Amino acid sequence: MTPEQINLVHDSFRKVTPISEDIADLFYGRLFDLEPQLRPLFAEDMGGQKKKFMQMLELVMKCLNAPGRFLPAVVALGQRHSGYGVTPAHYTCVGEALMWALHQGLGEAFTEDVQMAWVAAYGTLADVMIGAGSEQA
Ligand code: HEM
Repeated sequence: MTPEQINLVHDSFRKVTPISEDIADLFYGRLFDLEPQLRPLFAEDMGGQKKKFMQMLELVMKCLNAPGRFLPAVVALGQRHSGYGVTPAHYTCVGEALMWALHQGLGEAFTEDVQMAWVAAYGTLADVMIGAGSEQA
């Protein structure tokens, strides 16, 4: 990621924070519309999951300048995900649903450049998780 892209993600995350619950609702709604077979992997009540996902996303997105601060947590997260039955292909579905949710939530602020920056940031996160999950398997 370029420093400009990191700035774009940081700036747009400031707009995500106040509507974090809406983004999570949009994201999981879209994910289960696109991939209904993923729904049974999660608990019936998604309240806690939505919060945990958004908190982890915030930790990573805010520390893109200093990956050492999130790497251990993200490696452990990737290992747990392989135990949940998550496969590399699932990361693509989650990325698509997340980009859609950000687009809906941020509207015009989600410009093409911002989207490219988010795709790069999500790719960094997913790559670490996938790598950690496959090493464990
Ligand atoms: C790439 C970004 C992702 C992030 C930041 C993320 C974050 C989280 C967090 C924080 C948890 C809470 C439990 C824990 O910490 O282990 C969790 C659980 C879970 N995630 Fe993810 N996740 C990501 C990707 C995915 C993908 C691609 C899937 C595939 C469907 C997935 C499916 C699950 C499932 C099934 C659980 C357990 C739910 C439960 O026990 O009820 N996650 N995720």
